[in-house]
Amino acid sequence: MTTTFTDETRERAREIIARYPADRSRSALLPLLHLVQSEEGYVSPAGVAFCAEVLGLNKAQVGAVATFYTMYKRKPTGDFLVSVCTNTMCNVLGGQEVYDTLAEHLGVGHDETTADGKITLEHAECLAACDYGPVMTVNYDFFDGVDSSTAVGVVDELRAGGRPMPTRGARLCTLKEMAVQLAGFADERDGAVADGGPGEPTLRGLRLAQQHGVSVPGFDPNTPIRSKAEADKAAAQAKAAEAAAKPAEAPAPQVGPVKGGDGASAPTGTPGNAGVGEPAPAAAATGSTAPDVKAPDDKSPQVRTAETRQPDAATAVPDAPGTKVPAETSPPAPRDAQEAEAAGVAANEPAGDGKPAGDSTGAQERNLNEASASADGATSTVASETGAQK
Ligand code: FES
Repeated sequence: MTTTFTDETRERAREIIARYPADRSRSALLPLLHLVQSEEGYVSPAGVAFCAEVLGLNKAQVGAVATFYTMYKRKPTGDFLVSVCTNTMCNVLGGQEVYDTLAEHLGVGHDETTADGKITLEHAECLAACDYGPVMTVNYDFFDGVDSSTAVGVVDELRAGGRPMPTRGARLCTLKEMAVQLAGFADERDGAVADGGPGEPTLRGLRLAQQHGVSVPGFDPNTPIRSKAEADKAAAQAKAAEAAAKPAEAPAPQVGPVKGGDGASAPTGTPGNAGVGEPAPAAAATGSTAPDVKAPDDKSPQVRTAETRQPDAATAVPDAPGTKVPAETSPPAPRDAQEAEAAGVAANEPAGDGKPAGDSTGAQERNLNEASASADGATSTVASETGAQK
């Protein structure tokens, strides 16, 4: 199948894949699904095929992931996805009322889109902001403490072309624009990366604990939150201090050859190995009893990943548009991984031929035979559905 994705999307796909080690590129699937959603507004069959193609997966594997997570939409979605939390906390605070009011006002139900293509409404499970309930999100930006009236005001403004401000973060963007961010690309707009302390509703439990004298022994609430660099530095200093305070280990006593159980000479080794006939791995490699300490790698994960993916990137000419990294730049996978991959490929044809993986004639016949061989009507149904998906 020929996908229709733009060069920009393909370039972004290359960037996403390069974030991961070469033999772990399939880990890029989640952001890639957001990426294809950013172009089409949902994960279409072409989007599934695209992800499968660039990651060397089959469509069934991609589809299994895309259908598992609710953030990947399987049908065209409006510019603004309005999610109203109707879970326990929000529900008792009025979340269901907000949802019902919006459904009636917009004339749509759960997972349905208004005729103008602007709004898709859904009810959501806990949106992890119970302290601000009832909450709703628009393209995953929060509106805290909403009621029916404010919720209707938000959707009306959106349908009129406005971009309301959420309770936190930058002014609302479209779902496609948000999908670009979810794929891991920064939102450059002012205020997009908000910072600041927790709000009063979040601190309410802390205030009550203080009021009632409940505390965790030894916990200092004024403990500063350090940056990662500061934390790494402190950890390194603590480790160095611990090493300096540790008394030097006495060298292992030199003992002569000892007889093993079979009467053969056994090499000298640590006490734990005496009689086993095997030196400790570190001692075997270096002749030392010191622990195997690797030099600290102070490169950022991004640099390591880029070096792993393209070791000669500094001099390389950029590849033509397309996202698949040439196989020759990938280090060989471990042997067991290669065997597993070969078995997987044998069982599921890779995508790229315009058909879903596993939809070869043989596979289809197999599904049909299984379906017809089963006397159980339910089993037949499942097998048929499986065949239909593939
Ligand atoms: S119950 Fe609504 S955010 Fe948790």
